[in-house]
Amino acid sequence: MKVWKGGLLMGGVMLLTSTWAWSEGWEEEHAEHASKMSQSQVTNHATGAIKGYKNECAACHMLYPANLLPARSWQRVMSNLDHHFGENAELDQKDRTSITKYLMGHAADQSRNYFGRRINQSIPKDSVPLRISETRYFLQKHHEIPSRLVSKNPKVGSFSNCIACHSGAERGSFDEDEVVIPGAGRWED
Ligand code: HEC
Ligand code: HEC
Repeated sequence: MKVWKGGLLMGGVMLLTSTWAWSEGWEEEHAEHASKMSQSQVTNHATGAIKGYKNECAACHMLYPANLLPARSWQRVMSNLDHHFGENAELDQKDRTSITKYLMGHAADQSRNYFGRRINQSIPKDSVPLRISETRYFLQKHHEIPSRLVSKNPKVGSFSNCIACHSGAERGSFDEDEVVIPGAGRWED
């Protein structure tokens, strides 16, 4: 296990540290499975997929942690990239396949991440949300924030811009104590 972890870390250094941080959860969850596979195989697969995800999916917005939407949501997001929230985010087949596999394999319904689980529990079984920001758990946590601080705030723009208020968002860190809404300062509940 030690060798494999080292390998993943070395790959991670080439990426943003934030990307590395949330891949840690992946490592933990899949440690048992991974130990049954060849170590270099796992390392190459994981870093390759994370790198592809970062390159292709953080051009227009922050990199959303995979564990904030269930697998069925990622599948739907990834199969409609030519009509992606009013944009064309289409990818070639190869990238689309590997990123889809990565996202679905680390989705909220596969994850032990606290927020991922809370989001997942709040989604009715027959619903396939395309946005984290439209899930019931999200809405419960954010309904008190006035639009003056979000859509009418040039430093935020929309609730999809998690990282504007949660600086650790790409690492999957949403601690209430760390929230700072630009223009409003630290949030006191
Ligand atoms: C060409 C620009 C572009 C690219 C590339 C792009 N997106 Fe988006 N994405 C958008 C826009 C625009 C929105 C809507 C943002 C808003 O409402 O403020 C969005 C929203 C999202 C949301 C919903 C966020 C929420 O509100 O919870 C998810 C999830 C998402 N994108 C995933 C992806 C993934 C996965 C990829 C890579 C395959 C990707 N995006 C690539 C433009 C893009
Ligand atoms: C305009 C600023 C803003 C944006 C944008 C925003 N949030 Fe938040 N978020 C907050 C505030 C403020 C709270 C604390 C609410 C409270 O006091 O209960 C919060 C709370 C949370 C919590 C609960 C934290 C806890 O400790 O219980 C989660 C999870 C969360 N946000 C996720 C997200 C995600 C994911 C996005 C993007 C899709 C996002 N937020 C976008 C301001 C924001």
